[in-house]
Amino acid sequence: EKAGYRHFMLKEIFEQPQAILNTFRGRLDPETGKVQLPEIGLNAVELKKISRISLVACGTSWHAALVAKYWLEKWVGIPVEVDIASEFRYRRLLLDETVMVVPISQSGETADTLAGLRLAKKMGAKVIAICNVLGSTITREAHGTIYTHAGPEIGVASTKAFTCQLTALLLLTLFLGEVRKTMSAKNRKAIGHALLELPALMEQELPRLQEETARIAEAFTHSRDFLYLGRGSNFPIALEGALKLKEISYIHAEGYAAGELKHGPIALIDRDMPVLALAPKDSVYEKVISNVEEVKARNGRIILVANAGDKNCRRIAEQVITVPLCHEELNPILFVVPLQLLAYEIANLRGCDVDQPRNLAKSVTVE
Ligand code: F6R
Repeated sequence: EKAGYRHFMLKEIFEQPQAILNTFRGRLDPETGKVQLPEIGLNAVELKKISRISLVACGTSWHAALVAKYWLEKWVGIPVEVDIASEFRYRRLLLDETVMVVPISQSGETADTLAGLRLAKKMGAKVIAICNVLGSTITREAHGTIYTHAGPEIGVASTKAFTCQLTALLLLTLFLGEVRKTMSAKNRKAIGHALLELPALMEQELPRLQEETARIAEAFTHSRDFLYLGRGSNFPIALEGALKLKEISYIHAEGYAAGELKHGPIALIDRDMPVLALAPKDSVYEKVISNVEEVKARNGRIILVANAGDKNCRRIAEQVITVPLCHEELNPILFVVPLQLLAYEIANLRGCDVDQPRNLAKSVTVE
C-alpha cells in the first residue's frame, strides 16, 4: 500500500504531480486558461456582489489560506481576511450575505473549522468549502465545495493535500478574476499554462530534490532550532516548512516574514540556529537576499532555496537547494516541496516515526 516507498509521507510527496493534475483536470481550459467551477453554485450577479472573502482553516490548511490572500488580492482585488478557525469562532464576526467564507480542510472534519462554517452560515454568508474528503461533514454543510482530489492522505503531516489546496485556490483566483473582469486574458493564460506544466516539472525535479535534501539533512540532523524565512506569497511557505520540521522531527522551528528578522529574531542568530531562506527570483528577491546577508554578517548558517542559475546563492549560503524557474505565482507550490523533503529526511535520520508523529492525530475532531 506504500507502493515501495518507506513511508506514506514520502509516497504522498511523490504523488503531488498527479494529485495537482487531478485537482485542475476538467476545470482549467488548456487554451484560454479559463476555469470552470460550477460547484460554487453562484451566478455571475452573485459573484460580482461579493465584497470580501474570508478564509478559515487550521494548521497547514491555514498556510494555504495565507498564500491565497496574496493571489486573490492581487488578481481579483477583493479584500481577503485569513483566520485560524479557533480564533474566528470566538471573536465578533462582521459577516453578511456579501461575504464569501471559505473553510479549507483536508479532512472536512476539523472541529474548529466546522464551527466557523456554521457561524458564517448563520450570519448569512456564502460558504464555499475547499476540501479533500468526499462527503465529509464540512462538504455536507457548506453551500458548495471545491474538491481538491488529492486522493487519500494517510501520513499525519499534510503534503499533497496542501499543494492541492493551493492549486484549488489558484483556480478560484483565475475563476473570480475572469468573472469579475479584474484579470487580463494574457495574465490568466500565462498562469493557466504554467499550472498545466507544473505536474511534469515537479515530477522531473522530485528525485533530484530528494537527493539534495537528503545530503543537506545530514549536516543538520542534530540541530535543535531552525528559522525559516520568506517574503510575499512565500512567507506562508516558510511557516509551512517550519511546521513540517516541528511535527515530524521534533526540532523547534519558526517561520518568519524575512523583513521581521531585524525586529527580534535576529538576536537568536548563531551557529546553532540555522536559517533556511526562500529566495525565488520574484518581485521581492532583492529584499530576501538583503535579509539573508544580515544573517551571514552575524555568522549564521544559511540554507538557501533559490532558482536554478541564481549567482548570488553560492556566495552567501552554506547549502543551496535549487528549484527550476517557473511563473512567479506558482512558486509557493513548487518551493514547498524541498521543505517537505528536508523535514522528511531529517526526521528519518533522527529515527522519528514519520507517518505517526507523537501527540498528533490525522483529523482533529475536538476543539
Ligand atoms: C499539518 C497538519 C495539520 C492540519 C490541520 C487541519 O501537517 O496536518 O496542521 O493541516 O489539523 O486539518 P484539516 O485540513 O483536515 O482541517
